[in-house]
Amino acid sequence: MPKKFAEANFRNFEFNESDGVPKEYGVTCYHWAQGKYAENCLILCGNIGNGKTHLAISAMKEVFAIRTGQSLFIPSGELFEQLIVSTYNHDNKVENIKSLVHLYDCLCIDGLERRHFTEASIENLYLLINRVYLENSKLIITTNLAPEVFKELDERIYSRLHEMSIILPFKWDDYRMREKIAYS
Ligand SMILES: Nc1ncnc2c1ncn2[C@@H]1O[C@H](COP(=O)(O)OP(=O)(O)O)[C@@H](O)[C@H]1O
Ligand SMILES: [Mg+2]
Repeated sequence: MPKKFAEANFRNFEFNESDGVPKEYGVTCYHWAQGKYAENCLILCGNIGNGKTHLAISAMKEVFAIRTGQSLFIPSGELFEQLIVSTYNHDNKVENIKSLVHLYDCLCIDGLERRHFTEASIENLYLLINRVYLENSKLIITTNLAPEVFKELDERIYSRLHEMSIILPFKWDDYRMREKIAYS
């Protein structure tokens, strides 16, 4: 769990019905973490600084609170880097992906963005998503990409994500900017 978000939880997230993240998003993330939905994947997508990572971590903490297993938070770029390195080192990449999914109750891939995509990283993402799909494992993705982008990237990823995900679009102003304005 990153130090920056050590204190992040549902209670210190501000919901705002008129020009911010609506309360129902918090309720949905909370219920998702408690396993109230059939969908095992939560996709928080949209604008930068909208609290996607904050809510993703809050949901992870909730999954962790009700299960005995472990959760892993991994920035998307680092995940792909690690998988590429394991390919170069002739480690068994597929085994690495399988053990990631088996080891952790809940994986969070944070900040998936277009620049991370190469042919190899898309294939790695497919292998991971497919394993999550087969194992009914819990996955959270935060991304600035619209879900339709996955359709053009890889139909196999899109189709699985479509079946197994709850998708929440974030479309508000950057919260980080709001904080600065309030201090000056
Ligand atoms: N609605 C909110 N209430 C409280 N803090 C927020 C809210 N939205 C964002 N933040 C804070 O602003 C910063 C940026 O949020 P973050 O979750 O990293 O955004 P994103 O992942 O959407 O880019 C973090 O410090 C986060 O805790
Ligand atoms: Mg983020």
